[in-house]
Amino acid sequence: RSMLILNGPNLNLLGTRQPEIYGSTTLADIEALCRAHAQKIGVDLTFAQSNHEGVLIDALHDARKTKDGVILNAGAYTHTSIALMDAIRSAEVPVIELHLSNIHARESYRHLSYISPVAIGLICGFGARGYTLAMDALYSHLEGIA
Ligand code: DQA
Repeated sequence: RSMLILNGPNLNLLGTRQPEIYGSTTLADIEALCRAHAQKIGVDLTFAQSNHEGVLIDALHDARKTKDGVILNAGAYTHTSIALMDAIRSAEVPVIELHLSNIHARESYRHLSYISPVAIGLICGFGARGYTLAMDALYSHLEGIA
């Protein structure tokens, strides 16, 4: 099984960015956690980050042919990007929406997600652990196991 974990804007600053909200784990730490987990469950993992909406869209287009599923933390584009929503619609691969923080317990402008209606599910509020939870959820979904 092949998975893409795609991270959006400002997530390259994890570890130093508002640690009271996002924790002190860096994106490199999270990637290492995900790589270890991928090996454990036998998944071929691609891990990427971009601050640019179009680059994220291109990555979703590529995933259509090359990946079995995608885990997407779209950062603030979650709340603004109809373009990302459309890209997911046409990606024809299952996408899990992921956030470190619980977006529904935060500012009201974070309560709207353009990703949720086109995702198979949403994991938020579990910090860095959410990444491996999402990998397990996607794996189970792909394998059709409970
Ligand atoms: C985030 C939540 C978003 O609202 C925010 O803009 C982010 C990070 C999260 O992982 O909690 O950049 O996606």
